[in-house]
Amino acid sequence: MRSLRNQLVLALCVLVSVVGVVQGISSYQLSRAGMSALLDLRLEQAATRLYSSGLADSLPTIAARGSQPEGDIVVTIWKEGVTSPYRSTEPSLALPRDAEPGFATRSVNGENWRIYTLREPSMVIQVAQRSRVRHELTEARSMNTLWPMIVLVPLVWIAVLLVVRRALRRLTSLGAQVQAIDPTHFKTLSTSGVPTEIRPFIASINMMIERLAQSIETERKFIADAAHELRTPITALQLQADNLQPHIAPGNRERFGELQSGITRSGRLIAQLLRLARADAALQPDTLTRVDVSKVVVEVVAEVLPIAMKRGIDIGAEEMTSAHVRANEADIGIALRNLVSNAIRYTPDGGKVDLSVHLRDSMVWIEVVDTGPGIDEALLPRVFDRFFRANTQTEGSGLGLSIVQAIVNRYDGMASLRNRDDGQTGIVASVGFIAVP
Ligand SMILES: Nc1ncnc2c1ncn2[C@@H]1O[C@H](COP(=O)(O)OP(=O)(O)OP(=O)(O)O)[C@@H](O)[C@H]1O
Ligand SMILES: [Mg+2]
Repeated sequence: MRSLRNQLVLALCVLVSVVGVVQGISSYQLSRAGMSALLDLRLEQAATRLYSSGLADSLPTIAARGSQPEGDIVVTIWKEGVTSPYRSTEPSLALPRDAEPGFATRSVNGENWRIYTLREPSMVIQVAQRSRVRHELTEARSMNTLWPMIVLVPLVWIAVLLVVRRALRRLTSLGAQVQAIDPTHFKTLSTSGVPTEIRPFIASINMMIERLAQSIETERKFIADAAHELRTPITALQLQADNLQPHIAPGNRERFGELQSGITRSGRLIAQLLRLARADAALQPDTLTRVDVSKVVVEVVAEVLPIAMKRGIDIGAEEMTSAHVRANEADIGIALRNLVSNAIRYTPDGGKVDLSVHLRDSMVWIEVVDTGPGIDEALLPRVFDRFFRANTQTEGSGLGLSIVQAIVNRYDGMASLRNRDDGQTGIVASVGFIAVP
């Protein structure tokens, strides 16, 4: 009963049912009273017509007993001073002559009769009808007045259900929209078609979304600025260390080497941080071009070829479908470089890294397959998290895949990482972007 829809449907259906029942009962009662008045009118009219038209005398003197159908009215005429009826359409029925003028209900021959008595100086005319017949007539007619209600009420229930469901559908879809808000892609909710009562609610959610997006943007800018600012001193430090190298005493060479690699590591971390902050920023539409994906793949392979060769890793791009995407070319390069650098970094010497490009479901997929150890299935869902590292023996900042994710988000693309399922160990890393002709 927490659901607004159920509450509304129940309340409206109960209301409709109550109105239906009340309306049904009252129309039934009114119809019965009306029918009864009509039947009375008929008795009264029959009596007055018999008297005023002088037709009373033309009734047969001796009617056969019990010859009248049950439903018919019985007429009995009495003459002043004579004790037995002067005329009667049903002689077996002894109507009470002394009945008060007007209408009366009396029991005659063990049955209830509705009797109209017209008392005139020369005669008494009594017109009677069985109460049971009257009851059957009024009952049957009045029952008929209930049919529209009996049919309409369930129809109104269905209508209520449909109307309420339709009215709340927009609310349900809004709920789904709120649930689907992507923290990397803040979009305010649309108010078109939203019921007026819900608008203030949507407006406050939108305000909150905007504030959240703003604070995330401020934070992103801070990280980007900090990383950018840190680059210069780190470069200077590296330069100074390089200049100092020839002057280091042989006994201190090892420790100095550690210092140098520490500086290099910091430099890499800062560079990755800066890339991530940039990939998170809103896309500048004027930087978009039609990018030839194969060209980027060839460039990246050429870039890493020296490192791969040094480690005896066979890197190649075999299946290369010609495909284009609309993007900032640098973004595609950065995403791919991160995947390829992972493949090379985590694949042991003498391994193999294969790149391929294919079109599937109007998406361009770039796939990087390696022969490394793969990743523990339990850790796979977390590899796109910032600073997450599944393998701590090899150096890295844990930001590469977060950068890939941020870049695909920018273009409504997809990124995925899975273990190979062709019997070999290794990773299949892929990114998909929307293809353009
Ligand atoms: N091809 C791969 N084979 C095995 N493990 C992988 C592979 N690619 C990624 N991983 C695992 O996923 C983790 C996250 O990768 P990610 O690229 O985000 O960070 P990183 O490589 O550690 O650091 P960075 O790329 O920023 O220098 C890695 O630490 C590694 O354990
Ligand atoms: Mg990496």
